[in-house]
Amino acid sequence: MLRIAVFVSGGGTNLQALIDAQKAGKNPNGEIALVLSSSKKAYALERARQNGIATEILPRRQYATVDAYDEALLQIMERYRIDLVVLAGFMCILGSKFTKAYDRRIINVHPSLIPSFCGDGFYGIHVHEAALSYGVKVTGATVHFVNEITDGGQIIMQKAVDVLPNDTPETLQRRVMEEAEWVILPKTVQLICNGEIQ
Ligand code: GAR
Repeated sequence: MLRIAVFVSGGGTNLQALIDAQKAGKNPNGEIALVLSSSKKAYALERARQNGIATEILPRRQYATVDAYDEALLQIMERYRIDLVVLAGFMCILGSKFTKAYDRRIINVHPSLIPSFCGDGFYGIHVHEAALSYGVKVTGATVHFVNEITDGGQIIMQKAVDVLPNDTPETLQRRVMEEAEWVILPKTVQLICNGEIQ
């Protein structure tokens, strides 16, 4: 049984997809043991509490350096005996201390088809604004391993989503979540917990 920590900063719809999959018995070899938020205001925390999942709040600005933040995160990971870290809308960059300690044990969901619209500055709604202003006709989501390069780790799963003529950043964001993120993130977590992806 892998003990999973889900790192969040906002609404937590991807966290909800993971909780729903677990409740539906789709991940018998994994258990969400912790939800860690960079913000005390994140609605994701409420979702965790409603489901009896332990929570921790660790704002990045309380730490002087990336190294100090990584160290604090690692201590929490040890305390909860975490095997797998899932970044689900986590808006802080992890340092190499953390990514090296959890090499191939951290995954992230990103709301575009990497290598498009990724890297520094591409997060949340900005990704969809960029996709629309570029004029792509197909976008999607990517789940990848996390290393020290932002959105640069090995790709595990992707799913394409059509851009429609009247899309706004918000309608596109919603469709990418529904059709891609909420599908490929729980699927990837399940495959890792089953030992089918290493
Ligand atoms: C999701 O679209 C996720 O892919 C994105 O933030 C949103 C979080 O939504 N993550 C990134 O942009 C990371 N670079 P949620 O809190 O409802 O899951």
